[in-house]
Amino acid sequence: MTSNDPDAIGTAVHERKASRIVNYWNRELLCSLDSSTSHADPDLACLDNVVENCVLREVLARWTTENCQRCLDIGAGYGRFVPTFRQFYSQIILLEAAEQIYERLRMLRQCDGNTKCYNSLFESFKDEREYDLLFASGVIYLYDDDMLSRFVGKAATMLRRGGLLILRDFVADPSRIIQSSYVQGGHCHYRTPQFWRDLARASRFEFLEIRRSKPRLALVRNPRLLSVLRRLRMIQWLRHSVVAAAAQRAGSFRLHGGHIHPVFLAMRLS
Ligand SMILES: C[S@@+](CC[C@H](N)C(=O)[O-])C[C@H]1O[C@@H](n2cnc3c(N)ncnc32)[C@H](O)[C@@H]1O
Repeated sequence: MTSNDPDAIGTAVHERKASRIVNYWNRELLCSLDSSTSHADPDLACLDNVVENCVLREVLARWTTENCQRCLDIGAGYGRFVPTFRQFYSQIILLEAAEQIYERLRMLRQCDGNTKCYNSLFESFKDEREYDLLFASGVIYLYDDDMLSRFVGKAATMLRRGGLLILRDFVADPSRIIQSSYVQGGHCHYRTPQFWRDLARASRFEFLEIRRSKPRLALVRNPRLLSVLRRLRMIQWLRHSVVAAAAQRAGSFRLHGGHIHPVFLAMRLS
């Protein structure tokens, strides 16, 4: 490998761009154990997190095969999906590049023989043994197309045949690229469902499903209703499991054109 090696140069550029994103997280940290980005009500964030874990459980129950072992959460944050992974995988590897977040992750998730935490960028992570699941939540929407294609290419080399790649990301139709208000020089990429289907097909993956990760619940997200609930001291009801079950059953999971939707995208390595 020489300094003129185009692939090495591409990798270095990719790592530099990924580091710039991670520097932001390292500086700002995550909002709460339930949400990395939501500045909304913490009780609402808790409700969303419970529902997202339920939806992820359904996605995994649908697509995992028997004898699943190794799962890697890329950009694990504080590891909010760990309880769900534990129901399906015997070894959970949590990868978190931001040092400050990693230190807290290690304390929160009791890393032991079955759960390991590493402080590394995915792009330079060396444990490339056969994984049954690669998962990333809230990471990829900050990646441009070149970074994304390298990410998916590396994921394909790390999964065993038939292994799953599940991304919790955001989609919009038509697609949107918006200047990031927090990563300097960065952009948020909201890609279309069709983009993901085409990407899967072009990268040795079979596209399995796309599903909203949490319901719209437009009424509950209304700031006025939230402030009324708070005044009546009823806001903490949003943390109740019965409310989460009702939200999941009654909320709208439809993908409406034009909006930006949080989704789980599931694909399988062919
Ligand atoms: C939006 S937060 C999401 C955290 C968690 N996955 C969740 O859903 O709550 C993104 C996290 O991914 C980490 N991250 C971003 N890019 C990464 C990369 N290339 N390698 C490892 N970690 C990364 C950030 O440091 C941050 O903690």
